[in-house]
Amino acid sequence: MKMIFRILLLISFISCISGSLVVNVTQTHYQAEQNHSITLEWTFTPKPDVSITSVYIYCQLVTDLRVSVLFHLHEGVEVSESQDQQFSGRVQFDRDKLREGRIRLQVSRLRTDDSGRYDCIIRTSDGWNMDVCRLNVTAAVDQHKPQTTVNPEPENRGRTGLYAALGLFVCVCVLLFLLSYRLKLRT
Ligand SMILES: *[C@@H]1O[C@H](CO)[C@@H](O)[C@H](O)[C@H]1NC(C)=O
Ligand SMILES: *[C@@H]1O[C@H](CO)[C@@H](O)[C@H](O)[C@H]1NC(C)=O
Ligand SMILES: *[C@@H]1O[C@H](CO)[C@@H](O)[C@H](O)[C@H]1NC(C)=O
Repeated sequence: MKMIFRILLLISFISCISGSLVVNVTQTHYQAEQNHSITLEWTFTPKPDVSITSVYIYCQLVTDLRVSVLFHLHEGVEVSESQDQQFSGRVQFDRDKLREGRIRLQVSRLRTDDSGRYDCIIRTSDGWNMDVCRLNVTAAVDQHKPQTTVNPEPENRGRTGLYAALGLFVCVCVLLFLLSYRLKLRT
């Protein structure tokens, strides 16, 4: 039910894209390591006039599996209840930058399942618009595991390849032999 509501909300937002508002991401792809922090940034023009209470922001993470709300600002006020449990306590919004037309969201203690597409829909008195960026969080490498444990695989693969080639060669030889034998019998 919640999912359907979100999808309907998104469709209605997209169909409402209008006005002179331009939204851009400052970076289309972000790469980060597990447990590190990253700041996702969107810019919009024109900047909000006098007050930021006219600003509405809805940012969500979209993956193959699900949609989770990263950040929701309604009339200049953060709506933390909308935020998905996944991001709870990990997102910091820079309110001062909003006046400059910048939406800066710092996500800390990154998890690998934070990876995916981030859609941010923005509405000001100048209209609606959205832009998208991608984040790829890679698992931290375990320093204690010796590197050699990874090595045997390619070697094995090479050896199986060699055996397969040898097997194929023998098969072809036997086939050629049988063929020539039959031809000899016929003549
Ligand atoms: C946003 O991106 C468009 C093209 O993608 C570019 O023409 C425009 O100058 C950009 N605006 C800002 C404010 O960066
Ligand atoms: C994420 O980063 C890793 C390491 O750089 C890379 O191997 C992988 O292909 C990337 N995944 C995506 C979806 O970009
Ligand atoms: C990431 O942080 C958690 C808790 O802060 C910790 O338990 C875990 O070992 C860390 N993982 C890595 C790979 O550093």
